[in-house]
Amino acid sequence: MAQTLDVLGGITAEQFLAEYWQKKPLLVRNALPEIAGILEPNDVMELALEDNVTARLIKQKDRDPNQWSVKSSPLLKADFQKMPKLWTLLVQAVDHYSFDLSELWKKFSFIPQWRRDDIMVSYAQKGGSVGKHFDFYDVFLVQGYGHRRWQLGQMCDAETEFVAGQPLRLLPDMDVHFDEVLAPGDLLYVPPGLSHYGVAEDECLTFSFGFRMPNVSEMMDRVADKFSDDQLLKNPLTDIIRDQISSIGQITENEIGYLKEKLFEQLHNSTVIEYAIMSLMSEPKYPDNIPEAEEIGTGDLEEALDQGYQLILEPASRLLYTEQDGDILFWANGEGLCISDEFATHLKIIADGQALALDENLYDADILEDIAMLLNESVLMLVPTESE
Ligand code: SIN
Ligand code: CO
Repeated sequence: MAQTLDVLGGITAEQFLAEYWQKKPLLVRNALPEIAGILEPNDVMELALEDNVTARLIKQKDRDPNQWSVKSSPLLKADFQKMPKLWTLLVQAVDHYSFDLSELWKKFSFIPQWRRDDIMVSYAQKGGSVGKHFDFYDVFLVQGYGHRRWQLGQMCDAETEFVAGQPLRLLPDMDVHFDEVLAPGDLLYVPPGLSHYGVAEDECLTFSFGFRMPNVSEMMDRVADKFSDDQLLKNPLTDIIRDQISSIGQITENEIGYLKEKLFEQLHNSTVIEYAIMSLMSEPKYPDNIPEAEEIGTGDLEEALDQGYQLILEPASRLLYTEQDGDILFWANGEGLCISDEFATHLKIIADGQALALDENLYDADILEDIAMLLNESVLMLVPTESE
């Protein structure tokens, strides 16, 4: 029988995917008790002031709380002076700064890594919120500290109208059919399009485990970039065989058909599309969060074998693979990886979200070279086994 999951309130991943994912909300009390205490409000405040952190400070005017303002990072201490009563601080990618938090992604391993975006934290005092809104986004909202009241409303779409003249896409109304207060460890899954409104009941931190999907426009953009880099495709096409004289102002249906056919031939016959998609999906969203690695050589690794170390994915890096004709092709941080066949089965374990023990199974010159390369590029990290 399929395994039931505490994080989903005792249903199976299969049941969640069939009934809830992308469709309807799910509230789970005490789904992730481990999250309580990982970060405190002060940590979030300090993080928001650090260089390279992506954060937003959202305020509502005291005189008219329907007037909103948004200040995006870099945030300075001065931005937190003269605060109104109602405000929210949002900090992106906190999983890149806290190993304990990034470990919690494992609870959602029924969704593939390429769908993961980042973990955002929102910090507010009593009454603070980001307004009634919806996102084109799957999100698990997990309460980490204090309490937040969540209301859920109607489904929205691209046609839904927003309140005019505000810096946030706010909904004028919500048809509330769900109204619950979440305490530390509680989780609420919100599918794309569902309107939601979360108001802090007291000083509170809410963690959003966000899942992204690419849009066609950005994929097209990448595909076009890859084709336009191809020198061969820069040669003019040969002309269509002409047996008729047509009006010179017209491009005939036949002629357009021929040109379209040449485009479709490329789209159908080339691996460029797979390449473009893999490179897009493996790109880091916050490249500045990838730390500079300390140079390591294969000799250092040999010495570290069986000394209680393991290899894990650097939280800000992305590592994905595809299988083509029996070969595993890896991609990390937007680039195709060239690694030995011997290492591929091991690296697959890491890409699948597990740690890999640095032990005698990896004692092979090619494997050690691959590991050194991936450590030096900060795709992987070497950590003591007990710190997992
Ligand atoms: C919040 O935690 O206040 C905002 C998260 C969201 O609405 O997606
Ligand atoms: Co939202």
